[in-house]
Amino acid sequence: MARIIVVTSGKGGVGKTTTSASISTGLAQKGYKTAVIDFDVGLRNLDLIMNCERRVVYDFVNVIQGEATLNQALIRDKRVDNLYILPASQTRDKEALTHEGVEKVLNEMSETFDYLVCDSPAGIEHGALMSLYFADEAIVVTNPEVSSVRDSDRILGILQSKSRRAERGDDPVKEHLLLTRYNHERVERGEMLSIEDVNDILSIPLLGVIPESQAVLNASNQGAPVILDEDTEAGQAYEDAVARLLGEERELRFLDPQKKGFLKRMFGG
Ligand SMILES: Nc1ncnc2c1ncn2[C@@H]1O[C@H](COP(=O)(O)OP(=O)(O)OP(=O)(O)O)[C@@H](O)[C@H]1O
Ligand SMILES: [Mg+2]
Repeated sequence: MARIIVVTSGKGGVGKTTTSASISTGLAQKGYKTAVIDFDVGLRNLDLIMNCERRVVYDFVNVIQGEATLNQALIRDKRVDNLYILPASQTRDKEALTHEGVEKVLNEMSETFDYLVCDSPAGIEHGALMSLYFADEAIVVTNPEVSSVRDSDRILGILQSKSRRAERGDDPVKEHLLLTRYNHERVERGEMLSIEDVNDILSIPLLGVIPESQAVLNASNQGAPVILDEDTEAGQAYEDAVARLLGEERELRFLDPQKKGFLKRMFGG
């Protein structure tokens, strides 16, 4: 049985696809058979970051509609063992992701994969709801700014009321906060919310803090998840997040030294 992780946010452009690419790559590097699934029908950013856009023949919607088997649509990553990509359709409408269709595909994948990472589209419309419905865990990607935090709070409400786990009364979806595009100089100047501010509002466990970094743009231009760029702070911060997702305790890095005391207390380090 695979563990289903949705990468979600509500607000657009906060770093969900960047995060889906790096977290799935990190899980595969740890030896878990992992698939990253693009729920963003119509946009298809994930296959660009994963550098497999030229290899897409069939997609998620083809599988749902019975035009291709899962095996035909899954793309095996060239760099990392155990890693597969299920691309989104570029042309069809978002309603093509039917509830029954998504369930059927996830069930089939659950039989052979350890982790399914679902890259959610922005917003709280059909595609976003579909990507979170079946989740066991949610990585709520948030930027340190008011509008992003507000939308993350809204997504948390949806996870707690509209997910399959909520409907069935099962254990709730396990929530993780991933703060991305964090720039401590801007926090110091009061232009961005601090980790404490965000934590006060959302109060869910912190999975990690990814610094604002040019390395993310460089990596995506090269068609590589930034976690593969092991010399960069952003890459290492994602690697830490994957380790924490798997239950390891790691102290936060790459932050203003003054914040360390607070973080040590939060992580009990
Ligand atoms: N830590 C970071 N530092 C700098 N730039 C970043 C960082 N994380 C993401 N970005 C940039 O922000 C932009 C949006 O990222 P991404 O596509 O991952 O967001 P998204 O949440 O998936 O967007 P959408 O809601 O449109 O799907 C991209 O240009 C990406 O390179
Ligand atoms: Mg995206």
